[in-house]
Amino acid sequence: MLPRWNDTYLVGHSSMDSQHKEILDYAASLVSARTCEMQVLCAKGLYDLTLAHFVHEEALMRSIQYVGLDEHKEQHWRLLARLDEIQHEIAGHQLHINILDTEINEWLVTHIINFDADLSAQIGSLQYWGCDVD
Ligand SMILES: [Fe+2]
Ligand SMILES: [Fe+2]
Repeated sequence: MLPRWNDTYLVGHSSMDSQHKEILDYAASLVSARTCEMQVLCAKGLYDLTLAHFVHEEALMRSIQYVGLDEHKEQHWRLLARLDEIQHEIAGHQLHINILDTEINEWLVTHIINFDADLSAQIGSLQYWGCDVD
């Protein structure tokens, strides 16, 4: 099954949600890519897109002095390390691309549900009380 967006992954924060959707769409392109060259390009694109998204979330966390910042950042680091590994495994023909669909789906969705949803809830709560948070 290709990584695919599902509205149950919405966390209620517009930029986080749109970036998550973009990442999942990109992950689907990676899994669908049929040549090694395309897979390498897609894996690099997925890494870059995910890195930019994590930088955005971490800026949000700092802006609200989020208490879970360190743990959340640690998860980001782990995901990026795995994406980096995937790039090298693809380039070295050491990875069968078909096993990636389940792995990518699992870690992205698990992270969104377990970590990003809480961050979004905290931001929403601060906005409810009139704080100026993006
Ligand atoms: Fe996220
Ligand atoms: Fe996150």
